[in-house]
Amino acid sequence: MIILGIETSCDETGISLYNNKKGIIINEIYSQSNIHSKYGGVVPNIASKNHSKKIIKLIKKIIKKTSIKIKKIKAIAFTAGPGLSSSLIIGATVANTLSYLYKKPCIPINHIEGHILSIMISKKKPKFPFISLITSGAHTILTIVYNFNNYKIIGNCLDDSAGETFDKIGNIINLKYPAGNKISKFAKYKKNKFIFPKPITSNKNNFNFSFSGLKTYIINFIKKKQVNLQFKYDLSYSLEETITDILILKTINAAKKYNINKISIVGGVSANIKLRKKMNKEAKKNKIKTFYPNIKLCTDNAAMIAYTGYIKYITKKIKKNNFLIKIKSNWKINELF
Ligand code: KG4
Ligand code: ZN
Repeated sequence: MIILGIETSCDETGISLYNNKKGIIINEIYSQSNIHSKYGGVVPNIASKNHSKKIIKLIKKIIKKTSIKIKKIKAIAFTAGPGLSSSLIIGATVANTLSYLYKKPCIPINHIEGHILSIMISKKKPKFPFISLITSGAHTILTIVYNFNNYKIIGNCLDDSAGETFDKIGNIINLKYPAGNKISKFAKYKKNKFIFPKPITSNKNNFNFSFSGLKTYIINFIKKKQVNLQFKYDLSYSLEETITDILILKTINAAKKYNINKISIVGGVSANIKLRKKMNKEAKKNKIKTFYPNIKLCTDNAAMIAYTGYIKYITKKIKKNNFLIKIKSNWKINELF
């Protein structure tokens, strides 16, 4: 069975084909990050304009590259939320139009669920139940994944996400958006470490995240310093250390509290190598197994949307198509559409 996946939640246009026997057949991404880096973050109307410029070209490209006929595609899955409304609507419109023209079911997919299930199309995948930390530019969420379609949120982000904190501090020290991986590169040249606060980490049973206090602390800290290249290296190192410490502490505490010995970390920030190394070390001490998506599946992509579409299809979680184009910009993982 082949499922077409369409992802347009933010500034990446993603188109993918997933085959349940062969895995990901193709996974094309057009990233607009170069365009938005000038502005220090994603500008919604520019993002939607670029999605509409690229989306049909990308669909034509995957059809040409794979020689797969549209009639072989079983269903069309698209990101229906959460995300930027003006970006979501492009993918939703194209998906619904194709679905109407070719008489295929159209499956709205929750982007967060897509990230959670990205681990299932990666080389090493966990058995249920497992703890999933979703850490991206938009979210920092801790969930227990009991099964497909069965998630329990145990922690959420109260303000800025981990990725957003990397991006905003990166912007202040002139690192282009998205800054996460650039901060990592700078961190390698550190000479000094600064100690930064780690908000809401004292209570072992509180799995919520808050990064805005850390961000404000660092902004004020920078104002008092001479910002030269070495300072930027040291700051990058200290920021990466602080954010990864918080993510690891909360995730390990969650695994211990719920007595679950498997942790999966997904989303853009899960591409961070230091996070992976430190987490592996901490997990080993606690006899916990760790799982991460292939690097290409950490940031936004359509393969995870196509795969989630496949899961919805086989678990019969799809409704009859009424061709009402629905999106939900702040769709929570455990809410019904
Ligand atoms: O999952 P994603 O592509 O988009 C959302 O759903 O939000 O995540 C993008 C985020 C950005 O904030 C980016 O800075 C961060 O992931 N990121 C990283 C790394 N690669 C991407 N953060 C830390 N280290 C990385 N290597
Ligand atoms: Zn995402």
